Amino acid sequence: MHKKRLIGKLAVTAALLSTALILAVPSGSSEPAGSNVRKGPPLAPVSAFEGVRDTDARSAALFGEIAKAAKHPRCMNCHTLTDRPFQGEDRRPHAPRVTRGYGDIGVAGMYCTTCHQAENYEGVPGHGAWLMAPQSMGWTGMSDREICEQWKDRDRNGDRSPQEILHHIEEEHLLGFAWTPPDHLEPAPGSRHELAALVKAWAETGAHCPTN
Ligand code: HEC
Ligand code: HEC
Repeated sequence: MHKKRLIGKLAVTAALLSTALILAVPSGSSEPAGSNVRKGPPLAPVSAFEGVRDTDARSAALFGEIAKAAKHPRCMNCHTLTDRPFQGEDRRPHAPRVTRGYGDIGVAGMYCTTCHQAENYEGVPGHGAWLMAPQSMGWTGMSDREICEQWKDRDRNGDRSPQEILHHIEEEHLLGFAWTPPDHLEPAPGSRHELAALVKAWAETGAHCPTN
């Protein structure tokens, strides 16, 4: 074979291989190509809580900050206690009417991924496999304490320890959407990294919950 063509073939093979490798990675915090990572309204840093001397109280106060993210529409619109997701900054019921269906992925003819693609498209949110959070992980109308208790309840949280919750916040692919929404939607508070730092500090201080 001609040398140039052989090198060309090798380059194509290498490109195919690296694509296959990227596709083989199951999850991770990497964002879809071209997605625009943005920061939302400010989150207080972990250092802002150092003055709270009592460890349990500090842990609870840290969750109060974490809850600002959890209650933001970019998180809450998927984490509902209802059969339907919400939409937009005013958390209106999703239009068109869609229901979670078996496995929270929608119902035949109205699967979430019919409209929600691998990436945002023309203002329609997209971030890989798109589905609602299970009903047991819904937070609508809950206080900070109730959300905190949900995060800690292994019967409702997918059997996760606080350390595994941290891992979810750091790594789970779909969660990355909260900081890469289409331009007309505000990103969740802080950055993903800042939220993870708060969750880490909360877990390390015993994962205590606020009193209300
Ligand atoms: C597009 C929908 C979607 C968005 C947006 C979303 N989540 Fe989730 N979330 C899910 C799904 C689905 C699961 C369940 C995954 C599993 O159990 O493997 C989940 C699970 C979780 C869990 C673990 C279980 C529990 O106790 O709740 C946490 C914590 C969580 N999400 C936090 C967040 C936060 C914080 C945000 C915003 C920064 C967010 N999620 C945004 C869909 C979403
Ligand atoms: C027929 C198309 C269609 C289907 C099916 C669909 N959606 Fe949507 N969805 C949209 C559109 C369009 C928007 C964007 C609305 C806007 O912000 O302008 C949206 C927005 C959302 C949002 C709001 C994102 C945010 O942060 O504000 C969530 C959450 C959502 N959809 C979840 C789901 C889930 C879960 C399913 C499956 C159970 C689903 N959607 C099925 C079209 C669809």
